[in-house]
Amino acid sequence: MNTVKQLDLGTEESKSKEMVSIEIDGQPLEVKNGTSIMRAARESGIDVPKLCATDSLKSFGSCRLCVVEIEGRKGFPASCTTLAEEGMKIRTQTNKVAKLRRNVMELYISDHPLDCLTCSANGDCELQDMAGAVGLRDVRYGFEGKNHLEAVVDESNPYFNFDASKCIVCSRCVRACDEIQGTMALTIEGRGFDSKVSASIGESFLDSECVSCGACVQACPTATLMEKSIIDHGQPEHSVDTTCAYCGVGCSFKAEMKGDQVVRMVPNKDGKANNGHSCVKGRFAWGYSTHKERVLDPLIRENIGDPWKKVNWEEAINYAAKRFKEIQNKYGRKSIGGITSSRCTAEEVFVVQKMVRTAFSNNNVDTCARVCHSPTGYGLKTTLGTSAGTQPFESVMDTDVMVVIGANPTDGHPVFASQMKKRLRQGAKLIVIDPRKIDLVKTPHIKAAHHLPLQPGTNVPIINALAHTIIKENLMDEEYINERCDMESFEAWKECILKSENDPDNVEKISGVNADTIRSAARLYGSAKRGAIYYGLGVTEHSQGSTMVMGMANLAMATGNIGFSGCGVNPLRGQNNVQGSCDMGSFPHELPGYQPVGDDSIRKIFEDNWQVAIDPEPGFRIPNMFDAAISGEFMGMYIQGEDLAQSDPNTQHVEAALGNMECIVVQDLFLNETAKFAHVFLPGTSFLEKDGTFINAERRINRVRPVMKPRQGMHEWLITQNLANAMGYAMNFSSEADIMDEIAQLTPTFRNVSHDFLDQFGSVQWPCNENAPTGTPIMHIDNFVRGKGLFVETDYVATEERTNRKFPLLLTTGRTLSQYNVGAQTRRTQNVVWHDKDLLEIHPHDAETRGIKNNDQVSLASRKGEITLTAEITERVQPGVVYTTFHNPETGANVVTTEHSDWATNCPEYKVTAVQITPANHKSKWQDQFKVRAKQEGKIIEAVH
Ligand code: SF4
Ligand code: SF4
Ligand code: SF4
Ligand code: FES
Repeated sequence: MNTVKQLDLGTEESKSKEMVSIEIDGQPLEVKNGTSIMRAARESGIDVPKLCATDSLKSFGSCRLCVVEIEGRKGFPASCTTLAEEGMKIRTQTNKVAKLRRNVMELYISDHPLDCLTCSANGDCELQDMAGAVGLRDVRYGFEGKNHLEAVVDESNPYFNFDASKCIVCSRCVRACDEIQGTMALTIEGRGFDSKVSASIGESFLDSECVSCGACVQACPTATLMEKSIIDHGQPEHSVDTTCAYCGVGCSFKAEMKGDQVVRMVPNKDGKANNGHSCVKGRFAWGYSTHKERVLDPLIRENIGDPWKKVNWEEAINYAAKRFKEIQNKYGRKSIGGITSSRCTAEEVFVVQKMVRTAFSNNNVDTCARVCHSPTGYGLKTTLGTSAGTQPFESVMDTDVMVVIGANPTDGHPVFASQMKKRLRQGAKLIVIDPRKIDLVKTPHIKAAHHLPLQPGTNVPIINALAHTIIKENLMDEEYINERCDMESFEAWKECILKSENDPDNVEKISGVNADTIRSAARLYGSAKRGAIYYGLGVTEHSQGSTMVMGMANLAMATGNIGFSGCGVNPLRGQNNVQGSCDMGSFPHELPGYQPVGDDSIRKIFEDNWQVAIDPEPGFRIPNMFDAAISGEFMGMYIQGEDLAQSDPNTQHVEAALGNMECIVVQDLFLNETAKFAHVFLPGTSFLEKDGTFINAERRINRVRPVMKPRQGMHEWLITQNLANAMGYAMNFSSEADIMDEIAQLTPTFRNVSHDFLDQFGSVQWPCNENAPTGTPIMHIDNFVRGKGLFVETDYVATEERTNRKFPLLLTTGRTLSQYNVGAQTRRTQNVVWHDKDLLEIHPHDAETRGIKNNDQVSLASRKGEITLTAEITERVQPGVVYTTFHNPETGANVVTTEHSDWATNCPEYKVTAVQITPANHKSKWQDQFKVRAKQEGKIIEAVH
């Protein structure tokens, strides 16, 4: 059983390779040059008392509790701010230092409520520990004098309290907010006795700039900043190491437990993706796993609209198998298929795609990555040879110039954004290419060197114009290109890019971005020693998503920016396991490890192992499944953890397809929008019940460990396996570890991976095999995986989705920090305090010409449909562009998005929809129908609970 407390060595680790020899309390030691005396002592097991120091923050030296004596030096230096020097002899325990420390503690304790026995931090309070450590027995000053004991508790934040009466003004919270999170929401106001911690300018935490990352709460050595869950449930007894189930950063956490109840999630300091940091979702928004709406019994029904019938697992699985078999008998082998979920573990995904290819006897398997990062897979594989990002997150600390394209890291990938901000505060330069003024453009202590506010849909002309300038101004790395790239393709690309249409002056007319700004940005990236590109769905979810991914890879190769730390082309993956779901063979044309299903020799390996013939023909992609459902050829679907009805574009088309199918099986936590069309509901497990792995945006294979048994009584992989068996294919995995062993056996890039290996060595980045036994943090170091880097021509083809007089504005969509995708999880937590409805961002100019005021109801109409939502007037968007999120089903944001998609992968063009906005005083027709359906379904759901 894991202990709860994480080791704290007091000050940061020195990066120096040089060593110095010192002596502490008579013990000779060798430590890295630049190590503090406190850290040196603690590394050798000598605990010097401390209050203001912690190893996640820079030394501060304010509390004076850590004083020591150094031979030959006057006074009593603070061990946290004094560095070890060659030959130093230090004494940490003398009568004099003991007396000084007691005096310091006396002062702290004389202004502290002595309610230790009933305090929520009892047993986990550094002040309490230090009082014991320094041997404090008495407080001479009494408690009657001026003090802070009556300070009012700020309970405004839904997840933590601020009780100023317990504050010792050590400033750890302020420094955590500055140094780790980079939000700078806290200050110490006033001086001397009157000094106090303040959120923004004397505001409550909820009203302040605070983004509820919890770094200050974790840093606080007392009960001043304390999680409400600890106040409610008491201190944890043990912990389990696991991985966040939200975004693709893949933060590692200690789930702190009392019995089988989670009382707190604390980011793991050893987590290689997050180094002890987290965001509001991972740290606090886990309550959905025990939400009352979670379904814990399997359900079946003959027809949609019928009431659900609770049944046992066997009956539900046999019922699903019977209906799927009937469909195949009636419509043919290819009339059913399955969707894998990027929220499930790699093992759970592997089993679903295996079931489709074996028990369903076809390749009709696809994944939610289809609608987000499929162009990443295509574009990076074509140019570089691997369908994945090139760098570890920590590589950003070596970057000189970051280019952020179509991503909003502070909202979508907050922990990585904090790391980016750290590097930017150190002096790296930033270029933002985004239609919106995202937070990174200007945030405390950070200002982008260039913001290119392009018109949605014009990524490709912009990347071509950057390349045009780089070629014209000789900013390419010729030696790198000659050595590492395919020259024929390079020459063709160069010729294509040098066409006059790619000149920034021409691109200005298409993109709306000033030509000089394009040139300046190109010069900055082109002359960077180390330039890194980070991108998100604002790149991929376009009709030229794959072209743009290749455009970025071309640019990085042309400037020699791949294969080193601080460089690369890096997709910021949306969901926790989107990389893993792609790796596991979720695409209809690829077996696990991106191995083509059409390749006879590869198929033979799988056929021998699975003892079944595999169809050599690729199966349907999600959009093909919908089209075939409408034409009556595709009639059954197994959907693992994805809400297609809410998340996929052109809702009316999706609903028509789902409504036409004869058997839909939904495996999920909640009866979501798609479940309204389902005939079988198989309750799933939350991440707290799962055993397996999630693979993050940097290809890191992270362990997910269960903290409790499956609440609905069965592991998800076993549900799928039982269904495969009921369909007639004998699948017989015995555990999640057993599944990973088969993955490793069949997937060359995973050959060395097993649960035992990960438990022993921690997370690794694939490829992890005979050539890279401990994984591969940076890809393409000496050569590209495909051999020579391939340049691909990237001619601009404008999307068919055009503005006109009727639809003069462009809608683009995205997410917000507190919510996650369709909101199924976060809407069932207190994160709704920050975002309880989707808003429409509109520029003041566009609002004024339409007579729209802030908070007005407006109609958003496109060629596909119409919805009503609340307007937020803001200059974050430029004139001509409007923006909304898609977290709430009742908004129906995808009612208006179109069927246009990426030419290579069919990834939908969510980011460009021509729309009109008008004042409205009623909900749209779709929303009225939604309300009626929700009411009917509500009654059905009520009966289930
Ligand atoms: S709130 Fe906690 S961390 Fe911040 S100054 Fe007070 S005691 Fe220190
Ligand atoms: S929760 Fe995070 S953002 Fe808010 S004050 Fe604390 S450290 Fe700063
Ligand atoms: S950054 Fe992503 S992985 Fe990390 S805690 Fe937040 S949601 Fe979870
Ligand atoms: S711990 Fe060193 S001065 Fe506070």
